Amino acid sequence: MKYRLISAVVFFAVISLLRAQDTPPTAATAPPKPQGPAPLSPIDSKVRALLAKMTLEEKIGQMIQYSPWKSSEDKIKGEIAQGKVGSLLNVFGAKEANEYQKIAVEQSRLHIPLLLGLDVIHGYKTIFPIPLAEDCAWNPDLLAKCAHVAAQEASAAGVRWTFAPMVDVSREPRWGRISEGSGEDPILGSALAAARVRGFQGARLDDPGSIAACAKHFVGYGAPIAGREYNTTDMSEVTLREIHLPPFKAAVDAGVETLMSAFNDLNGVPASGNRHTLREILKGEWGFRGFVVSDWASVQQLVAQGYAADDKDAARKGLWAGVDMDMQSHVYGDYLAELAKEKKVSPRLIDDAVARILKVKYDLGLFDNPFTDETKEADLTMTPGDLDLALQEAEQSIVLLKNDTVGAKPMPLLPLSKDLKTIAVIGTLADSQKDPLGSWHCRGEDVMDKVSTVLSGIRSKVSKDAQVLYAPGVGTTLDTATDKALAQAVDTAKKAQVAVVVAGETQDMSGEAASRTSIDLPGRQEEMLKAIQSAGVPVVLVLMNGRPLTIPWEAEHIPAIVESWFLGTQHGNAVAAVLFGDVNPCGKLVVTFPRNMGQVPIYYAQMNTGRPDLGKEKWESKYIDSPNTPQYPFGFGLSYTQYDYSNLTLDSKTLKTSGTLKVTADIKNNGLVAGTEIVQLYIRDRVASVTQPIRKLMDFQRVDLAPGETKTVEFALPASKLGFYTEQGKYVIEPGPFDVWVSKDSADSTLQGSFELVSK
Ligand code: NOJ
Repeated sequence: MKYRLISAVVFFAVISLLRAQDTPPTAATAPPKPQGPAPLSPIDSKVRALLAKMTLEEKIGQMIQYSPWKSSEDKIKGEIAQGKVGSLLNVFGAKEANEYQKIAVEQSRLHIPLLLGLDVIHGYKTIFPIPLAEDCAWNPDLLAKCAHVAAQEASAAGVRWTFAPMVDVSREPRWGRISEGSGEDPILGSALAAARVRGFQGARLDDPGSIAACAKHFVGYGAPIAGREYNTTDMSEVTLREIHLPPFKAAVDAGVETLMSAFNDLNGVPASGNRHTLREILKGEWGFRGFVVSDWASVQQLVAQGYAADDKDAARKGLWAGVDMDMQSHVYGDYLAELAKEKKVSPRLIDDAVARILKVKYDLGLFDNPFTDETKEADLTMTPGDLDLALQEAEQSIVLLKNDTVGAKPMPLLPLSKDLKTIAVIGTLADSQKDPLGSWHCRGEDVMDKVSTVLSGIRSKVSKDAQVLYAPGVGTTLDTATDKALAQAVDTAKKAQVAVVVAGETQDMSGEAASRTSIDLPGRQEEMLKAIQSAGVPVVLVLMNGRPLTIPWEAEHIPAIVESWFLGTQHGNAVAAVLFGDVNPCGKLVVTFPRNMGQVPIYYAQMNTGRPDLGKEKWESKYIDSPNTPQYPFGFGLSYTQYDYSNLTLDSKTLKTSGTLKVTADIKNNGLVAGTEIVQLYIRDRVASVTQPIRKLMDFQRVDLAPGETKTVEFALPASKLGFYTEQGKYVIEPGPFDVWVSKDSADSTLQGSFELVSK
């Protein structure tokens, strides 16, 4: 803690000096005041000593990251030996990692180890649910454990840096990368961002099982116009600070070692050339001491974006803005030395970038332990413990969207009885081992035979006498959709007491570069569902998808709907555990499901408008052809039991701006099975100098309840968190009236209270 403080002071002093020397292409804002000299931390001293020995070329080398291909391998190895490369991505496997590391450590003049990075997003070989799914568990502690397993497996393969977590808040379901983030809410996203950083980086970063994390994509990438991948983003400073920056700040506060600058243009300044966000906010206001890596060639892309005249200009602007390491675009390698000699970039900016990179290498202990133990790699991956954890996380990620009774039966359709005699399982996704891995499956594909499918999961649960019939049906694309396949699916379903239809998207329909203009069930899947449903077979719809889908017909007609996303290695086992009631589902949505594409963007934390929809007259903010309300709101998820909320209490009707309000409520499990309820605390600031959303999530708790049990849930609501940002980037707390809810989801108003925030 002491070192952190001291280093931060030194850091600010250096930054302000750097700013004074800098030659900005546009007017820079005033630097923060230097805060006086302070002693260096041991790592700072080492960094400084090493920096003093480095030539300009060696310094620039540290700022360069390549992804070696077969054709470029030899050239890159030669450059590593000359100290001209600081980092590689996409090199994994202890043997290969050591080969590269050996060149850096033994042949380069200063023996500086390489930093090897990889996209270890939700697992290395043991694949956990995609982030959007994992986040539906609202369980930061479990998430941290899963991230740590990913770190252990990856580091056993020589990878000491992951390009994760992706912490982009997104309210844009057309955007395929919504699957990699934590949904639409900045407060929840912040808690989960911090948890992932803790998990990847472990208790000590120099422990060989820990890896450096990278919060990405800084910033605004989750709000592309029209949901089109890589598209421009345009937002107010208020939106930037309220919605998009908080998870990055949480990651920085949790000690994240690196950040990645994004591809998108942000308010006319590309994120990888954006001095306001990178130097002023991240490195200035927040005092971030790690380094910033560009996204893949995103510095060079400043040219295509019309922000730099050519590659040389892009290199200058990237560094000036605050990008310390150039991923793959070559522009730093090709031009920084020349720019420095022409005095077009400040040598201090280069020193600052290199110091940050070296610091991360020291933090990771790479100078002392650059190599990976090749004998342990196999033992450290996919251990029974890893697989158990993956199962637990997968089970908690599932969201039960609907569970109605069928016909005259008194009980809802789910859970299914294990004694059913015939079950039909329908859908290509039901028997796929690839799709559960999601879009970033890392090395999961090498062990795809270990992935449980919905079909294999169901087969493993039912009694020996039960018959599980399978038909692939029509698949997800029109070319896999023949009339014959559809008819076969219906025939198979007709032979069974229940049909479990697995429908949704294939894994490559979400993730990077996978935006969709329609988010319906693709292909003829809905037609198949309609045909099976009208054949009179009770249908359980298991969705597999990487984004919210528009499923109005299914929501109205199918009796039971289970959202399973892509759950990784344990997909089928987790789904089957929920279908047969071994596990009571508890997941809640972290993103709104719209009724139709016309509602997008739709999210719970909207502003009220001057003419809110009160259902009274035409001249209200609404559609003439659709309700405003979503299909399923943020925070929504059912269970096999019911929870009753009662007795909301606030320990005072007034809260001083220096104080903390205690909010309590009783939650009762009013059903026959044990369960875990995710209880959510929301507020509304009713009057403010910047209008505030109709609801804002402030906190949440997972509460375990036995049948019949009641627990009192207590939240502490500090007034310091009741503020908001102004367009000038100032955080202010204004006295006035507030509403507060303790609720099941963002649309539930059972327990509502109010209080007044007063000065001091
Ligand atoms: C591009 C992606 O946007 C980023 O998330 C990823 O980390 C890099 N490629 C490296 O693979």
